[in-house]
Amino acid sequence: MTQDIVEKIGKLKEERDAVILAHNYQPAEIQDIADFCGDSLGLSVKAAETDAKVIVFCGVTFMAETAAILSPEKTVLLPDKLAGCPMADMITAEQLGDLKRQHPDALVVCYVNSPAEVKAESDYCCTSANAVELIGALPSDKKIIFVPDRYLGSHVKNKTGRDIILWPGYCPTHVLITEDQIAEARREHPGAVLMVHPECTEPVRSAADQILSTGQMLKFARTSDAAGFIVGTEIGIIHTLKKQNPQKEFFAVTDRAVCPNMKLITLEKVAWSLEDMQYKVTIPTETAAKARKALDRMLEVLPPK
Ligand code: 13P
Ligand code: SF4
Repeated sequence: MTQDIVEKIGKLKEERDAVILAHNYQPAEIQDIADFCGDSLGLSVKAAETDAKVIVFCGVTFMAETAAILSPEKTVLLPDKLAGCPMADMITAEQLGDLKRQHPDALVVCYVNSPAEVKAESDYCCTSANAVELIGALPSDKKIIFVPDRYLGSHVKNKTGRDIILWPGYCPTHVLITEDQIAEARREHPGAVLMVHPECTEPVRSAADQILSTGQMLKFARTSDAAGFIVGTEIGIIHTLKKQNPQKEFFAVTDRAVCPNMKLITLEKVAWSLEDMQYKVTIPTETAAKARKALDRMLEVLPPK
């Protein structure tokens, strides 16, 4: 049955001249059929450079919107239109407008986990892979407004010492990872390296050995000499960590760290998406043009491969 759907997706992909991009939190079977699997930054780079006519984005809305802005001539499909990111929806363009009026001299940096309209009102966009480098390089006399993730924002503030105005957004999945679970995981797996995502809370980040984006976690696990890793992020990434490092061990801090939106994508929905060319993600031209400037600046700060 699964094999039939996988073959069907392969055929439809050729007919449509499509590429399948998947985030590292996607269900294992989606990661396995993707042409490219990566973090938000890596996926944005792929979306900007692909020659395919159609991009099937296996991820959440803000990721597909980013692809649509970076590749306006392509058709971008999201296999489930309800696959949103609750953190991205914790700020609106109107709320950002109010904040900008309160701090008229500040530069605005938005996390890529934000709506297109918020990107359009921002000077810079960043991901968890380049937030520290991007913000650290901004003029030192400038205050910075950072939206919407208060935890990634406070991580950048700690790392750069910059004056950052935070917005109270957060990821409902990453806040499920607690200090107590970290202590328990450390006791159960002595010697394992603890990697956590910057969307985790401050006490969790302080307890970690490494604070990394999902793409950076994959690279770190491949290149590290350690035999065991405790993983403090959405558990979907453990599939690829294990696949790429069969001789190493990976332990989730908690099996509760699941993003229900990421898990809305199924093989069937990918096949239907290609069959019916749905759900098309489009951004109004003016919003896209403004958001593009912030995204182009994000793509100028790429971590070493
Ligand atoms: P990455 O860019 O690190 O993959 O993170 C995206 C995300 O949504 C984390 O919750
Ligand atoms: Fe959004 Fe959190 Fe899901 Fe990432 S894990 S897509 S931040 S809800």
